[in-house]
Amino acid sequence: MKFKFLSTLALAVIAAQCAPETDIIKDNVENAKVQLKSLVEASEAGDTVRIPSTFKDGEIVYVPTDDWVSGFFAGTLWYMYELTGDEYWAEHARKQTEVLDTIQYLKWHHDIGFMIYDSYGNGLRLKNIDGYKDVIVNAAKSLSTRFRPRAGVIQSWDADKGWQGTRGWKCPVIIDNMMNLELLMKATEFTGDSTYAKIAISHADQTMKNHYRPDYSTYHVVDYDPETGEIRGRCTAQGYADESAWARGQAWSIYGYTVMFRYTGDRKYLERAEVVADYLFNNPNMPEDLVPYWDFDCPDIPDTYRDASSAAIIASALYELYGFTEISLYKEKADKMIESLSSSAYRAAQGTNGGFILMHSVGSIPHGSSIDVPLNYADYYFLEALIRKGNIEKGLAPVNY
Ligand code: GLY
Repeated sequence: MKFKFLSTLALAVIAAQCAPETDIIKDNVENAKVQLKSLVEASEAGDTVRIPSTFKDGEIVYVPTDDWVSGFFAGTLWYMYELTGDEYWAEHARKQTEVLDTIQYLKWHHDIGFMIYDSYGNGLRLKNIDGYKDVIVNAAKSLSTRFRPRAGVIQSWDADKGWQGTRGWKCPVIIDNMMNLELLMKATEFTGDSTYAKIAISHADQTMKNHYRPDYSTYHVVDYDPETGEIRGRCTAQGYADESAWARGQAWSIYGYTVMFRYTGDRKYLERAEVVADYLFNNPNMPEDLVPYWDFDCPDIPDTYRDASSAAIIASALYELYGFTEISLYKEKADKMIESLSSSAYRAAQGTNGGFILMHSVGSIPHGSSIDVPLNYADYYFLEALIRKGNIEKGLAPVNY
């Protein structure tokens, strides 16, 4: 009996050693096909194409076109097209993209970079659709109206209305704004007009100078005086405290400077992304599975929420950073993040989660919004990271742009 047990065990070990390693990208794509198809069907079930953002109390939450997250679902579907080559995804990505048509003229907040670049930018890159380039240039023009030359920055939020109007700010700039610069760099590439790139570079340089603490964590908000360019204060909006390190802010920081290096070749941007990586991976509050708590300095750690969106954004940035530096640690960390996000701890079972892929993200705890839910941008950056991982493993550059 004992012999039989041992031989069964030995056989199991040999079988496990010989089994092909699960292809994590393929497995995720197969899962995403099921989840996102149901989300596409739900979003197109009414008279108009609706934009899904999250899933709350058993219902998919849809957002208007001027919400900062309105471009991510379109982008997610474009990435599905890139991952599968299946025209189904391109067809629905195009529908989700073109509902955003009027957003090219939006001037009342800075997130037009996310909204238009994730949707029209990916559509242009993958399908070269007529008119998409013009939308991107118009959007860059709209974003440029928010440039405040004395401070050398793009104003992120208007300071005279909504909850922002209660904070006494004049020209609030958030680290997230780094993510809107790619739109400007592309507009210069398309038009030859350097104005857009100059604005992006000025913003990146001022942010590098003014947003960081000595340990290279970043403040969420820096408020400038647009008349004098002086700094009026540094604080948070979505983090635990003014002096804490809000996780997604750190994610935007590493991602934003990596992208600026891609477009400019300026090594100071690459170096900034690298020191942010050091900050993240030497942080004693970074959990073992590398899916950050919502704020690195939340005193309730470990009894508080994770933010899967931060992990997805950081993983995607790390793959690009690995491509530039060939520092294997970056790929190892990104792979670990993808492995964690692909596990049942974060990846929803098929047919659940409203059709979103990932669970356990956090929108804004101080505002009491979207806490421990799926978020469309977590899925977007997760698929983006899978594409980059796949490219690297095929010996290609991580990013097609
Ligand atoms: N850009 C807003 C956020 O990251 O929540």
